[in-house]
Amino acid sequence: MCGILGIVGKTEVSARLVEGLKRLEYRGYDSSGIALLDQGDLKRVRAEGKIKKLEDVLENNQVEGACGIAHTRWATHGMPNETNAHPHIAGRVCVVHNGIIENYAEIRDGLSGKPIIESETDTEIVAHLVNENLEQGMSPVEAFGRSLKKFRGAYALGLIIDGNENQLFCARAGSPLAIGIGEGEMFIGSDAIALEQLTQKLVYLEEGDWAVLTPDGYKIFDEKDQEVSRPITHLQDNFIQATKGNYRHFMLKEIFEQPITIGQTLATFLDEFGNPSKGFGKVEFSKYKRIYIVACGTAFYAGAVAKYWFEQVAGIPVEIDIASEFRYRKPVLEEEGLFIAISQSGETADTLAALRHAKGKGVETLALVNVTTSTMAREADIYLPINAGPEIGVASTKAFTSQLTALAAFALNMSEQKKFLDKEHLAKLVKALTEVPDIVGETLQLDGEIDKMCLGLSHAKSLFYLGRDMNYPIALEAALKLKEISYIHAEGYAAGELKHGPIALIEPGTPVIVLAGQDPLLEKTVSNLQEVASRGAKVFLVADKKGAEIVGDIAEQIITLPDCDPFTAPIITTIVIQLIAYHTAVHLGTDVDQPRNLAKSVTVE
Ligand code: F6R
Repeated sequence: MCGILGIVGKTEVSARLVEGLKRLEYRGYDSSGIALLDQGDLKRVRAEGKIKKLEDVLENNQVEGACGIAHTRWATHGMPNETNAHPHIAGRVCVVHNGIIENYAEIRDGLSGKPIIESETDTEIVAHLVNENLEQGMSPVEAFGRSLKKFRGAYALGLIIDGNENQLFCARAGSPLAIGIGEGEMFIGSDAIALEQLTQKLVYLEEGDWAVLTPDGYKIFDEKDQEVSRPITHLQDNFIQATKGNYRHFMLKEIFEQPITIGQTLATFLDEFGNPSKGFGKVEFSKYKRIYIVACGTAFYAGAVAKYWFEQVAGIPVEIDIASEFRYRKPVLEEEGLFIAISQSGETADTLAALRHAKGKGVETLALVNVTTSTMAREADIYLPINAGPEIGVASTKAFTSQLTALAAFALNMSEQKKFLDKEHLAKLVKALTEVPDIVGETLQLDGEIDKMCLGLSHAKSLFYLGRDMNYPIALEAALKLKEISYIHAEGYAAGELKHGPIALIEPGTPVIVLAGQDPLLEKTVSNLQEVASRGAKVFLVADKKGAEIVGDIAEQIITLPDCDPFTAPIITTIVIQLIAYHTAVHLGTDVDQPRNLAKSVTVE
């Protein structure tokens, strides 16, 4: 949520700042800006809209310098327009920020001299406070360090000062920030994706840390202003392949990558004999009496599927919560429970806060994340990487199927430790899991058929997904995916629930997509399908051969899934619902990789 980049060096940096911003655009794309110290003089260019707009403005308005900061914004306080775009300037100080300064009004009211605040943002106040400290005679380092003590909320900050071109300042509290180490130049960035083009050597700031960078070095201070040293992380070569290749969109590339990414996840958790015993360390999962799963959005739906798996194959009760609700509902947590946070980014503010809450209550915590350098990975007692590789499309696809794959392997590992299933049954499920990459490959061949179906769907004003058992959380994920990239209103329902109210919305022609792959309650689902068909709904079916035969002509169109075990069916059905969302959005001409109002990593509450 908002991307930050900064460079302090000895040569021109503006082109690299803009290039780096493009790699950060997935964090927000309402507006962007860049500011440089040109021979000490502060110059700034900002633009509303995507980074392309900033590049257009820069063409006629070049700024140069060896020290600069850049920002791509996802608006929190204030409309997404040029005035509210970062960097913000007050006096000599120029700042970029990710997060929220909660007490900005209090700080504004405490400033002497009643400065003019130009924007509607909470960020501008940071520049005013540091500038006031400078005007009172403090050195730049002191002015920055002292200001930080006043801020409440979450922030990652990058800051430069007019007339001071050899120093770049940064700070982290609640929002991630890394320092990149170069030769004769130093960098700051919101994440490794931003910095990977610039350096392979990173230092992640810890909570409350702040730092001063010069072209030849950096100093990090903790929240008590003590100089500290933090470990250097070396990015592996090819850490990130953030390019679209021959695909039209990142989302399509990431959908088609899934046979490989799921394979990578399996390789993380299955040993050379195919047993789900690798990657879990020596953790005795059999000791836990209950699991608490907490996540947001798509990651939450992965958890909702996992609830079926953990309960059915490992016999352990699972509670599942949306992260933004978890700590505020004051949950009663058993100390013998295991708290699982699921998060692609490992930075989602609500999920991180929930993890800290559970930890504070003495519950052991586990983070299932994709970004291995993330805060959740560092703070959880146990950390499991899903190894899906960087996900650039804002709508999560390959991370979701890797989350599912990891959770399935995890449930089987727990089952084995608890000796919950007999050996043959367990072996059958493990085998089914190893077959997933191939079956996903087969499912992807349905792409053309699905595309045709979507041409009709793209005219819909509103649409329903129905499913029972594990197809229910997949129906929820299907509706989310369609909403976020096509902007068509969609709802997912448990098929048996529709008649308790929402069926009133069905009118002649309303599209209803029924998910019934390997459905253990197929007959009941078919009855629910008939209930909507008899009220004029246009029914589409996604099912295995048996389901397809039973439903036959009632459905407008049937997408027939390849055979798979019921245990892994949610992963296979997911491929179809992702393609439905993708093709519908493409028919409508929306911005698939960067849908409106969204950001990839939600680091505010
Ligand atoms: C939807 C989507 C979001 C994320 C959610 C949690 O396609 O991507 O719903 O799943 O914002 O993000 P992470 O997994 O990074 O915690």
